Amino acid sequence: MSKSEFVRLQGFIESQLGIKTPVNKLTMLETRLNKRLNALGMSNFGDYLKFSFSNCHEGEKELQILIDLVSTHKTDFFRDPSHFDFLYDRVLPDFFRRKNSASLNMWSAACSTGEEAYTMAMIAAKYFRLHDIPLYRCQIMATDISIPSLQKARAAIYPSEAVTPIDKNLSSRFLLKSKKGEAVYRIVPELRQRVYLSLFNLITGDYRKIQPMDVIFCRNVLIYFNKENKDAVIEKLLSVLKPKGYLFIGPSEGMLPKGLPIKNVSSTVYQYDP
Ligand SMILES: C[S@@+](CC[C@H](N)C(=O)[O-])C[C@H]1O[C@@H](n2cnc3c(N)ncnc32)[C@H](O)[C@@H]1O
Repeated sequence: MSKSEFVRLQGFIESQLGIKTPVNKLTMLETRLNKRLNALGMSNFGDYLKFSFSNCHEGEKELQILIDLVSTHKTDFFRDPSHFDFLYDRVLPDFFRRKNSASLNMWSAACSTGEEAYTMAMIAAKYFRLHDIPLYRCQIMATDISIPSLQKARAAIYPSEAVTPIDKNLSSRFLLKSKKGEAVYRIVPELRQRVYLSLFNLITGDYRKIQPMDVIFCRNVLIYFNKENKDAVIEKLLSVLKPKGYLFIGPSEGMLPKGLPIKNVSSTVYQYDP
C-alpha cells in the first residue's frame, strides 16, 4: 500500500469510526484488506480504493465491509456482570419508583452481535415478571456501525460456548436449543421482540432521531475514539438521556470530561442530573 493510499484510508477510518490509525498499523490494515482484494480479484490497493470510493452501490457496500474489518466486535453475554446487577438492583427499582406507569427505554449503543442488548432484555424480563409489569413496557434499541454484526444480532443464534455466562434460571427461560441437535441456542421471541436493531454511527449519526432514553449502555467502544470524538459522543449521548437516566460505559474507557452534569453512582455508571 502506498503512503497516499494509506493516508486516504486513515482519513476515512477516522471520519467514520473516530479511530486514529497510526503508521505502525499499516501491516495489520494490509493483511485485513488483502482478503478483500483476493475476494474481489484485485491485485493492488489503488484499484481497491478506486472501487470502494466510486460512489456506486457496490462501492458503498465495500466501505461497509471495510468498516467491519477494521473494528473490534468482541462482546459477551453478561460482560462486566456488576453492571447488570446494578441495572437490576438499583436502576429498575429507581425507575419504577419515579415513573410507576411509564415505559422503559434502553439503548445498547454499539451492540455488536447483540449479546449486550439481550442481556439487558433478560434482566428487564426477570424484574418485570417479579413485579408483574408487562414486558411490552420495555423497549431496547440496539445499534451498531457494522451491518454483519447487526445481521448476527437479528438472527439471535449463539453457539453453546457463548451462552455459558447465562445462569440456569435465565437460560431455561430465554434460550431455545436447536431442534437439529446442533450446539446452538436462539433467544426466545419474547425477548427478540423487545430489541429493535438498526444501523447508527455514534460519530456521524443524527441524535435528534433518537427518542429520549432512560438507560444507555455505551461500552467498550469509546476506547477506540480519539479524545475529541469521545467527548463529543458523551455529550450527544447525554442529549438523549432523560434527567435521572443512567449511562453505563466500559471499565477501560478512561476518564469522562470534567464539568458534565452527571453523578458517578457505581463503577463506570453515571446518572444524568442536569
Ligand atoms: C468491542 S465491541 C463492544 C460491544 C458491546 N458494547 C460490549 O461492550 O460487549 C465494539 C462495537 O462498536 C462498534 N463501533 C465502532 N465504532 C462505532 C461507531 N462509530 N458507531 C457505532 N458503533 C461503532 C463496532 O462495530 C463493534 O461492534
